[in-house]
Amino acid sequence: MVKAIRIVGEKILLLDQRLLPTQIQYVECSNWHDVAQAIKKMVVRGAPAIGAAAAFGMALAATALKKSTQKQFLAGLAEAAEGLKSTRPTAVNLMWAVERMLNVARTQQGKTTEEWENILWAEAEKIASEDIAVNKKLSALGAELIPQQARILTHCNAGALATVGYGTALGIIRRAVEQNKEISVFAGETRPYLQGARLTTWEMMQDNIPVTLIADNMAGFLMQQRQVDLVIVGADRIAANGDVANKIGTYSLAVLAKAHQIPFYVAAPISTFDFTLQDGGQIPIEERDEAELTHFAGTRIAPDGVCCYNPAFDITPAALITAIITEIGVVRQPTRESLMHLQEGLQYGV
Ligand code: MRU
Repeated sequence: MVKAIRIVGEKILLLDQRLLPTQIQYVECSNWHDVAQAIKKMVVRGAPAIGAAAAFGMALAATALKKSTQKQFLAGLAEAAEGLKSTRPTAVNLMWAVERMLNVARTQQGKTTEEWENILWAEAEKIASEDIAVNKKLSALGAELIPQQARILTHCNAGALATVGYGTALGIIRRAVEQNKEISVFAGETRPYLQGARLTTWEMMQDNIPVTLIADNMAGFLMQQRQVDLVIVGADRIAANGDVANKIGTYSLAVLAKAHQIPFYVAAPISTFDFTLQDGGQIPIEERDEAELTHFAGTRIAPDGVCCYNPAFDITPAALITAIITEIGVVRQPTRESLMHLQEGLQYGV
């Protein structure tokens, strides 16, 4: 599988996901500004992948600052942190990874700036390798919920491309296939950015996993025809009460799944939870350029001057979710109380 993030010496190579599936090209980042631009421009996307890329952006900032005084180093690092965090507002993994990098520097006060540089690179590597391990753990737990034969609908791309490797929603599908289950996937195309059509289909085909592309508005018909056994999606931020922000269109699928009594699963690492937010209403929703709606592959498809609204994410209320699958456990019918137990488990190192 092609990797979304590669490290070569002191450079970060990010797979340019805007060009998939027709071209495989990497964008080279040699400083944190390059990484911030790549996140903003969607070269790299998907909550965990954005977080890991930003961690390497912080490591690049440390390299640029290694000859400065400790005061300048911390100030420069804080500037990089703000710059990276401001690129995309919804996926909390970005803030989580940047804060983790900042904290590492802040808690190593006795060290030289050159030592700080090494420590920050090591921490970024750790964030990246942990992400793969975490995805494999949650995928193993999630695969237990998948029957021997299943037709699975997914939305957007929550796969290896959206993470450092293996994936969350698609990781569960991969694990179920590895267990010789008979799995087929429906990939919703995910208008307007088409992560499903461009990325999920490609990723599944790379692994020879049967995948069928559908337009987003076909999901209800498929469910009505009993062609979907379950839905699995990823998440960009999960509030303390279990409300989930994920790619626009997720909420509609959850409502449809409920109406057709089809299980609706969310797969996400603990780094996607934001326990500081009481509910999904507090999650900031990114609004993107109207050109994503008015143009298709560079060609105008809507009248010049038309009024547009382009929210990139929506909120699925916890009540519509059958279970949230994390690396430390599966929370069925998530509620504030059950997630509090999950958080307590975290504090006690479960
Ligand atoms: O705008 P994107 O492509 O970054 O949105 C990605 C998603 O919504 C994914 O479903 C989510 O980040 C989970 S990725 C494991």
